[in-house]
Amino acid sequence: MSDPPRRTAAITAVGAYLPEDRLTNADLEAMVDTNDEWIRTRTGIRERRILRDPDKATAFMATEAARQCLERRGLAAEDVDLIIVGTVTPDMHFPASANLVQDALGATKAWGFDLSAACSGFLFALTTAARMVEAGSARNALVIGADTMSRIIDYTDRTTCVLFGDGAGAVLLEPNTEGLGVLDAVHYTDGSGADSLSQPAGGSLRPPTHETIDARLHYAQQDGRTVFKRAVVGMADAAAEIMERNGLTADDVRYLVPHQANLRIIDATARRMGLSEDKVMLNIERYGNTTAATLPLCLWDWESELKRGDNLVLAAFGGGFTWGATHLKWAYDGTGEGGTQNAEGAPE
Ligand code: UT7
Repeated sequence: MSDPPRRTAAITAVGAYLPEDRLTNADLEAMVDTNDEWIRTRTGIRERRILRDPDKATAFMATEAARQCLERRGLAAEDVDLIIVGTVTPDMHFPASANLVQDALGATKAWGFDLSAACSGFLFALTTAARMVEAGSARNALVIGADTMSRIIDYTDRTTCVLFGDGAGAVLLEPNTEGLGVLDAVHYTDGSGADSLSQPAGGSLRPPTHETIDARLHYAQQDGRTVFKRAVVGMADAAAEIMERNGLTADDVRYLVPHQANLRIIDATARRMGLSEDKVMLNIERYGNTTAATLPLCLWDWESELKRGDNLVLAAFGGGFTWGATHLKWAYDGTGEGGTQNAEGAPE
C-alpha cells in the first residue's frame, strides 16, 4: 500500500489594507533634518502610509485585510478555524489583536493569538499556522501581518521616523495534497540583539511613568548600523540555507519575497541567491517598512503575476533579533485582483 499524499498548507487567497494618507520624503524634510536623497539612497523609500484616525489601529487594519482575503476566497467568517496576527503594535497589551479581529469579522468558531517576532512576525506565524493545518488541528487559518508603526515612532528622531509605515496583509491557509504550499522553513532568534531594536518602555519591566514618557522610551529605538550588519548576513544566510536544503537553484526560484526594511539588504540577499532584479518583489518605495506586514503586502501586490507551482522564497530579519526563510510553492494562478488599492503602483 502506498503512503497517503503528504498534507501541506497552501495559501489560497490574499488580502491587504493600506491607509490612504501618504507621508512623503518631502513631508519628512519639513519635520526633521533629513532629505529625499539620503532617504532614497540609504533605504529605497519614497513614501509610507499612515493611519491617521485615532480611533483605529492595528486590529482595524488586520480585520480589513482578513475580510478582503475571505471575500476573494468566498469563505464565510464563521468557517474560519484559526487566526494568528503577527504584530508588535497590538491595539493594547491584552486582549490580543487576534481576539479583536475574530470579533469584528464574526469568526465565531475561530480561536487565535498574537505572535510577537517584529519584522519576522508574519514568517513565524505562517510556519506556526501551517503546522496546525498540516496536522489537521485546523481546517484553515488566517495568517495576518499588521503593524501601526506610526503610533510608536518618534517623529523628532530622524534615524527611525523616515523608515516605517502602517499597513496590514492577510493570507488564508488551507490543506493541500498536491505538493503545494509551505514546504520548508528555517527560523532563528538571537536575544542578545534585544537592545539594538526595541520599544524600551510600556511593558512590565518599565511600565509607563512620567519619567519613561519624558525620556521618550515608549518609542521604537534602533541602532541602525548594528541591525544593518546583522540583517545583511542573516537574511542572505537564511535564504541560501532554504535553497540548499530544498535543492533549489536560482533558475528554480520565481520570486524572492523579502522583508522590506532596506533596499541594500534586499539586494544583498538577492545577490547571494543569484537572482536577477526581476525576480525580487519590491514595494519598499511605496510603503516603507511596515514590520510584520511587508511579506503579505508583497504577495498581495504581486498576486496577479503568480502561477500555480511557482517557487517562492520568503525571507525576513527583524528586531529581537529574529530571522528566517520559507520555501513556498504557490497554489493557484493569480486572480488579477492583487494590489487593487494601489493600482498605480502595481508591479510592471
Ligand atoms: O526591519 C527591522 C530591521 N531593521 C533593519 O533592517 C534596518 C537596518 N538598518 C538600516 O537600514 C540602516 O542602518 C539605516 C537606513 C537605518 C541607516 O543607514 P546607514 O547607512 O546605516 O546610516 P548610519 O546610521 O550609519 O548613519 C549615517 C549618517 C549619520 O551621520 P554621520 O554620523 O555620518 O555624520 C547619521 O546621523 O547619516 C545620518 N542620518 C541621517 N541623515 C539624513 C541618520 N538618519 C538620517 C536621516 N537623514 N534620516
